[in-house]
Amino acid sequence: MSPDRFAGRVAVVTGAASGLGRATAEGLAREGARVLLFDRDAAGLKAAMAACPGAVAVQGDVTSAADQARLAEEAGRLGPVTLLATSAGTVGSTAPLTELAEEDWDRLFDVNVKGTWLTLRAILPLMRGAGGGAVVTFASAAGLTGSPALPAYSASKAAVVMMTRSLARVHAPEGIRVNCVCPGSIETPMLEATFADAPGPEARARREAEFRARHPLGRFGRAEEVAASVLFLLSDDAAFTTGIALPVDGGRLA
Ligand SMILES: NC(=O)c1ccc[n+]([C@@H]2O[C@H](COP(=O)([O-])OP(=O)(O)OC[C@H]3O[C@@H](n4cnc5c(N)ncnc54)[C@H](O)[C@@H]3O)[C@@H](O)[C@H]2O)c1
Repeated sequence: MSPDRFAGRVAVVTGAASGLGRATAEGLAREGARVLLFDRDAAGLKAAMAACPGAVAVQGDVTSAADQARLAEEAGRLGPVTLLATSAGTVGSTAPLTELAEEDWDRLFDVNVKGTWLTLRAILPLMRGAGGGAVVTFASAAGLTGSPALPAYSASKAAVVMMTRSLARVHAPEGIRVNCVCPGSIETPMLEATFADAPGPEARARREAEFRARHPLGRFGRAEEVAASVLFLLSDDAAFTTGIALPVDGGRLA
């Protein structure tokens, strides 16, 4: 960690009220960035603001183009925007695809895919105006390999990986790098929701053990461990790295 790795830079972080987004926002603030926090959770945003010195918050929904326009307007006011992390996402239902309700599929793709796209659509023009920058999107290890437990989620995160790679190619000539992280199971409220969704305590314990066993390092990850990789990809240390989908997964995909 360096107190000035991001000094004077303006960073936008979606999903900043919880988990990986919050850890990313805190890391950026600690290392000198002025952070704009975006989330739909007002109470969570307030707590995140307190943990990120100098941060500004915009409450909104990533699936709303109007909210994203407000985000871009506020970001533009803070100065040239050169950093973006799109952590807002949802895990959705663990139902098998043959039983998944259509509205659950639509909501999952709305938040994870359309929401990420709308953020990129809102913020990339600001980055172009700033003369370059770095973006990290949030996919998942489940976006790089099939997931029997979360098939719809897996499909939505695979879409994020390919959107990231396409954008990396399009925006490289403008000095904008676009990468994504693919976390394994990380201890956040989202992982807890995945376990809480199990039908009863025994099924929950089974699911938890099953998820843990997928990681050769023998444990779940911590939000700070993912944030450290996000900060690396956002930083000039990764100046020649664009278009990658970086697993941060305790060896799950090894
Ligand atoms: N935790 C894991 O094990 C894990 C693993 C792989 C990938 N991921 C991905 O990392 C990202 C962050 O996950 P997390 O574990 O921190 O989850 P989390 O639930 O702790 O935090 C997600 C945040 O996104 C916000 N959000 C959700 N939908 C939103 C919407 N429509 N508009 C605005 N904000 C919205 C929530 O309010 C919350 O603050 C997600 O994209 C997730 O899919 C997480």
